[in-house]
Amino acid sequence: NCLVTAGPTHENIDPVRYIANRSSGKMGMAIAEELASRGAIVNLIIGPSTLKTIHSNINQINVNTAEEMFQQVDKYFSDSEISVFSAAVSDYKPKEVFSEKVKKSENNWNIELAKNKDILLEMGVRKTKNQFVVGFALETENEVENAKKKILSKNLDLIILNSTKDKGATFGYDTNKISIIDKDFNIKQFQLKEKTEVAKDIVSSIVKFTSKS
Ligand code: CTP
Repeated sequence: NCLVTAGPTHENIDPVRYIANRSSGKMGMAIAEELASRGAIVNLIIGPSTLKTIHSNINQINVNTAEEMFQQVDKYFSDSEISVFSAAVSDYKPKEVFSEKVKKSENNWNIELAKNKDILLEMGVRKTKNQFVVGFALETENEVENAKKKILSKNLDLIILNSTKDKGATFGYDTNKISIIDKDFNIKQFQLKEKTEVAKDIVSSIVKFTSKS
């Protein structure tokens, strides 16, 4: 049993506006499909995206907000032996959600934001010794140092690091360039590849580590 989070989240401001990010969900979808094609039963919890899997081993659950994603992860996490958190969850949401469309008036509009729950952090705390948890780190500077800190702070078994500095990598592209860092801080770097190929590298690493332990 595996769990994968994918895509962006949309945090509502009013009925017509939201805060989002550039995640497409392609990387998480490719990981879910690779796990499924190797025989896993996968619960894929995905934020707003046009992607739809046809793989019969994948239960695709569509959500909008970080809170909805948390609720679904909360439901499936304890039964998942392997969980991969690839979603680009919004760290903040508007403190107040307006029930009617906000009309323009002043020259400036300040929207106060409140922190969302860190889903991965909460699951890292709950993780038992039979569970393997993989996080993602999208960094723009001090990439390796920041990723190592996240392994410790979120109690991860592996972290997949990608950088916005690499051409053709991360949000929106069909390709990605990753490094995989384990909890002993060994780093394996990969070339720029199609996301479906990157997913194979990630799942192969997971298989290697989970069959060792
Ligand atoms: N994540 C999550 N819930 C959140 C924020 C992040 O589950 N509310 C997960 C992501 O899916 C990813 C990992 O945490 O696997 C790293 O997220 P990232 O936003 O890069 O790191 P943060 O811990 O939020 O730190 P910072 O924004 O300071 O880099």
